[in-house]
Amino acid sequence: MKNLAIVLGLFLLVFDGYSYAEQSEKTVMAEPTKIDVYRSPSCSCCGKWVAHLKESNFQIKDNVTEDVQAIKDKYGVSKAMASCHTAVVNGYVIEGHVPANDIKKLLKIKPHVVGITVPAMPSGTPGMEMGGKADAYNVMSFDKNQNYQVFTHYEGK
Ligand code: CU
Ligand code: CU
Repeated sequence: MKNLAIVLGLFLLVFDGYSYAEQSEKTVMAEPTKIDVYRSPSCSCCGKWVAHLKESNFQIKDNVTEDVQAIKDKYGVSKAMASCHTAVVNGYVIEGHVPANDIKKLLKIKPHVVGITVPAMPSGTPGMEMGGKADAYNVMSFDKNQNYQVFTHYEGK
């Protein structure tokens, strides 16, 4: 009888510990942020950028299209601000190899812009890793009147 009580007690202890762990994990893990990505099927750096976002708790809706220019025209990405892929998150446009942390910053401060971009494809941006070598680059914000502003500056290496 005493043994049974001990076993039962142990069971309750383990059970309690388990549900506590499960609960705290839920509070730590934020809901993933949904993002639509438009990319060309032949673009490999785009796939690497998508992997970078997944690691940062983004949930990707992957749209593979032969005509990425049509997407850029639709969302007001000018030639000067363009890169390879285009994404849309909570109504903001994300162009090119923008670091996940800048997307999080954008969603937090909610500036009055169309979106943010890393024009062209600088080395060392997420998805464009070149063995430790990195260009200096800017994440730029842009509005619908083609006004650009530096959103974040990154030093080169
Ligand atoms: Cu690219
Ligand atoms: Cu890309």
